[in-house]
Amino acid sequence: MERRPIIAGNWKMNNTASEGVALVEALKPLVADANCEVVVCVPAIDIPAVSKAIAGSNIKLGAQNVHFAEKGAYTGEISANMLKEYGVEYVIIGHSERRQYFGETDETVNRRTLAALAAGLTPIVCIGESLEERETGKTEEVLDRQILEGFKGIDDISKIVIAYEPIWAIGTGKTATDEQANETIGYIRKKLAEVFCPVCAGKVRIQYGGSMNAKNAKGLMAQPEIDGGLIGGASLKAPDFGVIVHFDR
Ligand code: PGA
Repeated sequence: MERRPIIAGNWKMNNTASEGVALVEALKPLVADANCEVVVCVPAIDIPAVSKAIAGSNIKLGAQNVHFAEKGAYTGEISANMLKEYGVEYVIIGHSERRQYFGETDETVNRRTLAALAAGLTPIVCIGESLEERETGKTEEVLDRQILEGFKGIDDISKIVIAYEPIWAIGTGKTATDEQANETIGYIRKKLAEVFCPVCAGKVRIQYGGSMNAKNAKGLMAQPEIDGGLIGGASLKAPDFGVIVHFDR
């Protein structure tokens, strides 16, 4: 089953709008001939400026969160339609930092995912275990729960992108080995086949995330189950991101 690789930068809370524009201007020539989908997920307030700066290029735009309501009394929140108006195509949902610091649960992940899909956005839904969970043999149990609760009610699972991000590998410089990442992503796909259907599971793009960088991207991307990367720190440096999107060279 052909799955187009997708490399997405997660800028997190970095780059003002003008810094973001400078970064994508530097990126444009470096990623222009990439054989994969190239996405930058930027802070909400950077979206208008970055959207303009990437027009006509192969860089696609993503947000880092979306509210589940269409509109209403949700002070400080941003709806899927607001993102769409600026050409946003992707949105990260349920990043472990949001689960850890902002009370995100499998239920809110589910609601956001359904709202994003209804608006025609592609959710990049993050799942993954903590170090303690891995060390106590709970990885599969945690992933099962995140899949069953987080993806409830999705009609066509192939419309979402999943980012498998072991929490212990995020921003720590500690990457999962190529085999570890491949094996766990293989498990996720097996579970999706069971819960949804084998054909749909074969179509879902599953990224690895967690200290992926210019040095280790090639090895990770060579694994058969790994369809892309969600890149934090290394996406803030244009030359590094430029190398990562050329993992196939
Ligand atoms: P990192 O972040 O690449 O800096 O580890 C990845 C992520 O949190 O999406």
